[in-house]
Amino acid sequence: MAVNLKGKSLLTLLDLSPGQIRYLLDVAHNLKAERVGFQTYQRFRGKTLAMLFEKRSTRTRCAFETAFGEEGGHPVFLSNADIQLGAKESIEDTARVLGRMFDAIMFRGFSQEMVEALDDYSGVPVYNALTDMYHPTQVLADLMTIEEHVGELAGLSLVYAGDGRNNMANSLMVGCAKMGLDCTILAPGELQPGGELLDTVREIAAESGGSIRVSDDPKEAVPGADVIYTDVWASMGEEEKAKERIALLTPYQVNQEMMDMAGNPDLLFMHCLPAVKGQEVTYDVIEGPRSVVWDEAENRKHTIKALMVATLL
Ligand code: CP
Ligand code: NVA
Repeated sequence: MAVNLKGKSLLTLLDLSPGQIRYLLDVAHNLKAERVGFQTYQRFRGKTLAMLFEKRSTRTRCAFETAFGEEGGHPVFLSNADIQLGAKESIEDTARVLGRMFDAIMFRGFSQEMVEALDDYSGVPVYNALTDMYHPTQVLADLMTIEEHVGELAGLSLVYAGDGRNNMANSLMVGCAKMGLDCTILAPGELQPGGELLDTVREIAAESGGSIRVSDDPKEAVPGADVIYTDVWASMGEEEKAKERIALLTPYQVNQEMMDMAGNPDLLFMHCLPAVKGQEVTYDVIEGPRSVVWDEAENRKHTIKALMVATLL
């Protein structure tokens, strides 16, 4: 089936069909192979990308900026200390101005409504580079990394241990549901997902052959896992919750004991990074032989480039 993503935004993986995600992953694998062969093209020559940041970033900023720049495009980094947005100008007005000057916009910040408003008012493709609700480009890289190491997605069991209501848990549930994985959110009752999103991802999973499970018991959730995934216990913007999260999430730390519980010699450990070693994951696990976190970080660039190639050319 032909897949045409030209002009499309990515605000959440809910925006993409399984076939469109499959296409982006295929393009990303091809782009990565190109780099191995030292082939270079100038696919974004003459194009411009506005990069709006309310929150810090290492991987996402560098992935967008280098992927766009090495293809001849001109990325412009705009932190909220630099532009009028939030101080003297509304998001709707900012979006309309940026849409007159740029070919695409990426946004990292707090509210999902901001990235939706940029999409509604700019008239150009908008990419969600993380909000409190979703982190879709991260999950594209995660799926690519799993494929590289395992060779398939459908039918695999991914256990996410940690804050089950944050942007990563939300996006992993959507990505797994779309691509037919069995996803378990392992979290204490206070931090478990629920509501409309849980209903939605369960409906999607029923169509793809995947499943979404929620558990507070590692002994129930972990056996048979192919991937154990975790993320920081306190996300950007909720630093004041760090102490209470340590109390709630210490039983869910990914350590060797939890890795052994999977009973799978091919088990992968994944983390979107940055990590707080000694909290959500022990030093020996993240630095150990089953950890694929550096491949995952590199694949941010290939999947983000694939997204821009597919939506801008
Ligand atoms: N994983 C991720 O989004 O990393 P950064 O916060 O460094 O962009
Ligand atoms: N949940 C984390 C993800 C960082 C990539 C945060 O929002 O800070």
